[in-house]
Amino acid sequence: MQSLQGRDFLSLADLSSAELIGMLDLATAMKQGQSPAATSFKTLGLLFHKASTRTRVSFSAAIGQLRGQVLDLNTSVTQVSRGEPTRDTARVLSRYLDIIAIRTYAQAELEEFARYAEIPVINALTDWEHPCQILADLLTVRETFGQLSGLTLAYLGDGNNVAHSLLLGCALAGMTIRVATPAGYAPDAVIVQQAQTLGSDRTQVVITDDPQAAVTGAHVLYTDVWASMGQEAQADSRIPTFQPYQVNQILVAQANPDAIILHCLPAHRGEEITDEVMEGPQSRIWDQAENRLHAQKALLASLLGLS
Ligand code: CP
Ligand code: NVA
Repeated sequence: MQSLQGRDFLSLADLSSAELIGMLDLATAMKQGQSPAATSFKTLGLLFHKASTRTRVSFSAAIGQLRGQVLDLNTSVTQVSRGEPTRDTARVLSRYLDIIAIRTYAQAELEEFARYAEIPVINALTDWEHPCQILADLLTVRETFGQLSGLTLAYLGDGNNVAHSLLLGCALAGMTIRVATPAGYAPDAVIVQQAQTLGSDRTQVVITDDPQAAVTGAHVLYTDVWASMGQEAQADSRIPTFQPYQVNQILVAQANPDAIILHCLPAHRGEEITDEVMEGPQSRIWDQAENRLHAQKALLASLLGLS
């Protein structure tokens, strides 16, 4: 694919459709051991303000496999936790690192960091988007169906970060997306508009509060936790509101018979998804988690100019 050397990756919409597909091709080549070997030693920083298992470990493994190293910049052991301004941290870390992945709350903070950084900045999850997750998701869908264009993905749950990136990713990939959320939890209108603009005549963006309508005939059912990081205090009160959107066997039966089930993880079994569906034959959740490694290896190699 065309190198993305030096670019940021703050939103899925930072990629063109061709670049997105090129990234998935590179991820497939990485997975099959066919990519050119990285030749120079690079340092990736992980500046995370929130917990992470998959993103932290898959990024660490990926840079290691590219013969680079990771520095885990847990905010509690840096001056970030003592209030050092984002713009100062960005300029200083740019002098030590080759690339940085940031997990934080506000997209605006990530964007401020990127404005002052002299190295590529990757969104490792904000309250607004989770673009790295969707690279792995689309890779998993393509591995299952052999293509992306023309498929329909139904997302059920909270219309926040993961739903936002799915909206952009499906639009770029030529897929129809239906997002079903309780009233008051719909995706932001700005993202919906962006997805509609990025999509083609063949794709549809459907926002609904009807879970059955969303899943009928869909090829992919996708869910995420009902209370995201930072919303822990609302976790119990959200359960009755979100209960009709649970991905259970009854809902799965209304999808396409070949439909696959995805979840970005971590999951709350018995809330947004049942144990039976997670462990069932249509689940591709563990392949999806594995693909975080391959997709992010492709992303790192591309942004670092190694591919
Ligand atoms: N899906 C995901 O981003 O998982 P982590 O929060 O464990 O990184
Ligand atoms: N929406 C979830 C995703 C976790 C990967 C959160 O932000 O906590």
